[in-house]
Amino acid sequence: MDKRTILVTGASSGIGFAIVSYLSNLGYTVLATTRQLSGKNRLEDLESNFIYPVFPLDLTDKNQVKERATEIINKIIKGEIPPLEAVIFVAGGGHIAPVELMNLEHFKEELDVRLLSTVQMLQHFIPLLRKTKGKIIWIATPGLFPVPFVADIHACDNCCILLKKGE
Ligand SMILES: NC(=O)c1ccc[n+]([C@@H]2O[C@H](COP(=O)([O-])OP(=O)(O)OC[C@H]3O[C@@H](n4cnc5c(N)ncnc54)[C@H](OP(=O)(O)O)[C@@H]3O)[C@@H](O)[C@H]2O)c1
Repeated sequence: MDKRTILVTGASSGIGFAIVSYLSNLGYTVLATTRQLSGKNRLEDLESNFIYPVFPLDLTDKNQVKERATEIINKIIKGEIPPLEAVIFVAGGGHIAPVELMNLEHFKEELDVRLLSTVQMLQHFIPLLRKTKGKIIWIATPGLFPVPFVADIHACDNCCILLKKGE
């Protein structure tokens, strides 16, 4: 147990899955969150001793976030897995639409996944990250160069940047 633990959200596919695969190959213990069973199965197919799927975790569900976070914190406190070195927020995706046609439920979901749950997760994990002088990483779309029709993604990413400035 020499390398530390890294928590990655949105690990079932795309960028999150690639990060999990890369970090586990380096020997980090990786807590990989997935909302769907298919994502958990995909992670288990990698047959890595370093990957711990965190399932189910729907980031729009505050109770699930609290339950999974408590389980993780207990594992770390008991020494079952190494101390937490970083949290990498990847989950999300956005819904492409111009503002006048934007589905408000989709917009709200994106805010929940990328913004509110991020704050909730940080409230749980910052005490552990302070102990290790760990890192918080957001995978974001560069809002400094906005592109049309992805207002929800840019809204979340710019709020994350403001959150960071206000830390
Ligand atoms: N791809 C790009 O070119 C690009 C560029 C810049 C930024 N980004 C950003 O990078 C992030 C990942 O992109 P990607 O292309 O890798 O996307 P992706 O393959 O669609 O993966 C999205 C991930 O988010 C998870 N997710 C979505 N809603 C969730 C929820 N309510 N609760 C928990 N997990 C949820 C999905 O989990 P399940 O499968 O389990 O539902 C999935 O693992 C996104 O935030 C995206 O905006 C992507």
